[in-house]
Amino acid sequence: MVKIMERKELIDAYLDFFKSKSHKIIPSSSLVPENDPTVLFTTAGMHPLVPYLLGQKHPLGKRICNVQKCIRTQDIESVGDEVHHTFFEMLGNWSLGDYFKKESIEYSYEFLIKILKIPKEKLAVSCFKGDANAPKDNESAGIWKKLGISEKRIAFLEKEDNWWGPAGNTGPCGPDTEIFFYTGKKTPEVFSPKDKKWVEIWNNVFMQYNKNKNGKYTELTQKNVDTGMGVERTIAVLNNLSDNYQTDIFLPIIQAIENISGKKYNESEEIKKAMRIIADHIRAAVFILGDKHQITPSNIEHGYVLRRLIRRAIRYGRIIGIKNEFTDKIAEAVIPLYSDYPELKKSRKFILDNLKLEEEKFSNTIEQGLRKFHQLKGKNLNGKDAFLLFQSYGFPIEMTLELAEEEGIKVNIEEYESELKKHQELSRTSSEGRFKSGLADNSEKTTRLHTATHLLNEALRIVLKDNNIKQKGSNINSERLRFDFNFPRKLEENEIKEIETLINKKISESLEVIKEEMSISKAINSGAQAEFGAKYPRIVSVYAIGNFSREICTGPHVKNTKDIGHFKIIKEEGVAAGIRRIKAVVE
Ligand code: ALA
Repeated sequence: MVKIMERKELIDAYLDFFKSKSHKIIPSSSLVPENDPTVLFTTAGMHPLVPYLLGQKHPLGKRICNVQKCIRTQDIESVGDEVHHTFFEMLGNWSLGDYFKKESIEYSYEFLIKILKIPKEKLAVSCFKGDANAPKDNESAGIWKKLGISEKRIAFLEKEDNWWGPAGNTGPCGPDTEIFFYTGKKTPEVFSPKDKKWVEIWNNVFMQYNKNKNGKYTELTQKNVDTGMGVERTIAVLNNLSDNYQTDIFLPIIQAIENISGKKYNESEEIKKAMRIIADHIRAAVFILGDKHQITPSNIEHGYVLRRLIRRAIRYGRIIGIKNEFTDKIAEAVIPLYSDYPELKKSRKFILDNLKLEEEKFSNTIEQGLRKFHQLKGKNLNGKDAFLLFQSYGFPIEMTLELAEEEGIKVNIEEYESELKKHQELSRTSSEGRFKSGLADNSEKTTRLHTATHLLNEALRIVLKDNNIKQKGSNINSERLRFDFNFPRKLEENEIKEIETLINKKISESLEVIKEEMSISKAINSGAQAEFGAKYPRIVSVYAIGNFSREICTGPHVKNTKDIGHFKIIKEEGVAAGIRRIKAVVE
């Protein structure tokens, strides 16, 4: 009998097993890879280990294992079926130049047979067939045979099936051997990889090559093992379920969606699909928002992926009749399922607030946008209209493409891209313009406010004890300063007081304000603050206020802080997800 397990039991059993084989357990890393700028998200457990696979010494030794949170978005369109996810957890064990094929395969076999109690008869494997870059993997096949896997259950496949990596454009990679479990009733004697009832549960990669940026493979001096076992899929298989969304991992999420929508999961295929998409996308959004990088929905990079996930979930919410805002309620069902990720509990408010905000934004335009889409679509949809849906109704282009596909029409994507580019150029010009003009006017009052803004920028980081705080926008007129910055919550009364006190103290210290010109890179290296995302010229002015503040700025500024006067905050409010705004005056 296969051992029936829940998610947490499987994870514990896996980590215990590899611990007993002298592996050290490392924590799950961030969803944003630190070592690979060519990908947005961590797509496999090996990502954080890239430097060690390439030869750097790992502080915990040569045998490592963990469970890693991962995001893969290339299959986002397939989410809605029984097995696809954007977020998933991967169990992995690594040999960093220690054991190789024999032990790796033996460990996997022992874990499957002894711990998960899977009968050998239910298993099959594939090995690399060989090509110009690497030879046929007879060695792995031989090891499997020795363990008692019949030759008929060993398939040799091409690179597209039996080679893994690099995760981004370059890096460690190699041939792999994949382990399959038969989910049907009577296991056929011969393994046919095309039969969907054979489900891949484990992938053992023998990372002995490095792919460089010219596409060349070179042999690594260190031979590594990198394995990956998907938690969702393995749990489904162990529970004899063909639908991952019916496992303990998803049931409470599906139930929450049932309660909110008043519909039943099993009512129809359409409802099932919608509920799976909502469950998957909101679970992924919770993990992205809960990650230490504090990503929020936006129109670029990680923030854009997050936005797409949330907005697609909202659209499917409408399809099953959910009219009110609901994504935060689904998130509330997700967070307690993952008590082993303390970051989710810690960021609970940030997660829920950002979901609410994003949903509020999109709720205002989704109905109108859908009406517009139906109005605009003729035989096809032109790129200008697709851009209008993006720009004015907040429809990610992928959503428009999905709608178009449902209607059997095409979108002129080239035209859309060129509209988008035109718009980006326009907004870049205007941001350069904004930087050049700097101040609305150069009166004595605005000059005082401008220097006060620098003091405020620094004081926020000190009082709120958060070095990640950055200027996100600034606007000064002769009445007041307005300063936007990233921070996840409302400021407390006493914090506002403390900020005022610190600034007034610096004012009364009569600090000199000194201007220096330097290259932008030198300015950044010297620790000068810069506005995130702003475009700066090659040579910039850096204003230093005593030893208290350094900032890139066009000025003008007072010569000494004593000229600023008394500083007072008149308003603190939220303006967007994770963005606060302070208005202040000098008297
Ligand atoms: N890195 C391998 C995978 O993702 C184990 O399948």
